[in-house]
Amino acid sequence: MISAEPPGSSSGPPTPSADAAPAPEAGTPFARLGGEPGVRALVDRFYDLMDLEPAYAGIRRLHPSTLEGSRDKLFWFLCGWLGGPSHYVDRFGHPRLRARHLPYAIGIAERDQWMACMIEALREEAVEASLAKRLAEALFGTADWMRNR
Ligand code: HEM
Repeated sequence: MISAEPPGSSSGPPTPSADAAPAPEAGTPFARLGGEPGVRALVDRFYDLMDLEPAYAGIRRLHPSTLEGSRDKLFWFLCGWLGGPSHYVDRFGHPRLRARHLPYAIGIAERDQWMACMIEALREEAVEASLAKRLAEALFGTADWMRNR
């Protein structure tokens, strides 16, 4: 049940001082991944794998020669998507992800490579199994929605 007590009442947790950094919403996937450093590490692992592993060459070649911009954009997007700060929307507005992927030919093979790369990154970053499974299921829905051929 949601508490009807006003914030800062004596029985609740201490109210953070006004100058404290906002705590990530406890219990969100964002918080469970370790906040921004955890999400960044996951994204960096994802793109390192994409860059190195021959199994992901098909989607690597759709990306620019340098992946720095792609890393930043996926990091900003995932922070908000996981329940953390809305860095992507703050910079670019509504994600319109499907429209933004239309320049790239994405079919079943590309979807499956993207998912395999992300699942490998989740495993290598030692994301707890129940969270990794939930994220993979949700990301599959998004990846499937990106198909345009
Ligand atoms: C299904 C297979 C996918 C392929 C082959 C793919 C490929 C790409 C490519 C080539 C780019 C352009 C990179 C750049 O501008 O540096 C891109 C951008 C992006 N992708 Fe994907 N992507 C896929 C799925 C996804 C999924 C599932 C998500 C989110 C969970 C995602 C999030 C993004 C974001 C946020 C951008 C930046 C968009 C922008 O602001 O221009 N992508 N993707």
